[in-house]
Amino acid sequence: MTTLTTAPLAPLLDRLFEEADAASPATSPAIANLSAEERTRLMRSKTDYLDFYGRLKDLPLAISRETGALLYMLARSGGARTIVEFGMSFGISTLHLAAALRDNGGGRVITSEFEPSKVARARDNLTAGGLIDLVEIREGDALRTLSVDLPETIDLLLLDGAKALYPEILSLLESRLRPGAIIVADNADYSPDYLERVRSPVNGYLSTPFAEDVELSMRLG
Ligand SMILES: C[S@@+](CC[C@H](N)C(=O)[O-])C[C@H]1O[C@@H](n2cnc3c(N)ncnc32)[C@H](O)[C@@H]1O
Repeated sequence: MTTLTTAPLAPLLDRLFEEADAASPATSPAIANLSAEERTRLMRSKTDYLDFYGRLKDLPLAISRETGALLYMLARSGGARTIVEFGMSFGISTLHLAAALRDNGGGRVITSEFEPSKVARARDNLTAGGLIDLVEIREGDALRTLSVDLPETIDLLLLDGAKALYPEILSLLESRLRPGAIIVADNADYSPDYLERVRSPVNGYLSTPFAEDVELSMRLG
């Protein structure tokens, strides 16, 4: 039995994913008045992300169930002990990552989120899931919070905050990624710069698109 598939986490995730399914951003009044072009522009913007995600602060915007299972499996199979997450939201992805750490025997997820109400909800969810002791929440813009007090080595990185910042966040953390470290980037199609970088082996990565919405990359030694 694993932490992921047993109580209290399994029923908690069932409920959180049900709520996430019911709260699609596409139908949200917060962005319903924006044209598809404007939404795409905001998703790709390196400057308007505070406004964009501020509008979406009541929505979970969670990874899919499949990506959640993938994160858990990758963290388990790699024996991850140190994980960094860009974009925590309500903590659905964080719960998967912390569950893997629990089943690996311990460790730390350093995660980031700038919306205070989301931090509060995530903290409640991580507490309900019995995993808060494995998670260090850094509140504020990850460009700042993930630029200091970094762990010596990072085994796994999840990129799921503002898509346009993926290259900048990767640059902050790159020197700490251990050879073989895994990077999961959700919806990386919105960051062509990021894809170009990780898909060029000269930059020190192997990378492949995976399923519909994930770019799966590995740091080369
Ligand atoms: C797609 S959601 C993350 C979903 C989460 N990983 C999950 O699966 O449950 C993106 C989150 O990143 C946050 N975010 C975006 N840019 C950020 C930044 N520069 N610093 C901190 N948080 C950021 C947003 O407020 C939003 O909650």
